[in-house]
Amino acid sequence: MIRVVFVCLGNICRSPMAEFLFKDMVKKRNIEKEFLIKSAGTSDEEEGNAVYYRTRKKLEEVKISVEGKYARQLTKDDYNKYDYILAMDKRNVRDIIKICGGDKENKVHRLLDYSKNPRDIADPWYTGDFNVTYDDIMEGLDSFLKYLNI
Ligand code: 4NP
Repeated sequence: MIRVVFVCLGNICRSPMAEFLFKDMVKKRNIEKEFLIKSAGTSDEEEGNAVYYRTRKKLEEVKISVEGKYARQLTKDDYNKYDYILAMDKRNVRDIIKICGGDKENKVHRLLDYSKNPRDIADPWYTGDFNVTYDDIMEGLDSFLKYLNI
């Protein structure tokens, strides 16, 4: 079982998009039983809130539902619960390491560090561009799956 948690700041835009796209991707490949896939935020600002409507709309375009997902803040215990803690940007990486008290097992990476062009995934809460977020996340997820080689 490969346990993955995607992490952004609020857990209402980028990390839920990554969570539900990755769930869909592994389901289509018939390997969903190999995975535990979740998402969380570094901030408690959006705790308990539903996925932001623009992320929801973008996923509806590709027939993916995010029903039942509510924002949750990452906890120190999550460090032991997951094998891969995949951040959207450098700030997330710093905050995750703060919450978890370090990264002794080298579990924390940016999602796009698995791609040929390692970089941050910009926060659409500020850029307003959910299409770029979607394309960046798909590039990261494809690269991560290739890296896992399953
Ligand atoms: P996310 O976007 O980190 O991709 O979920 C944000 C959502 C909410 C806030 C910041 C970023 N906020 O400040 O409320």
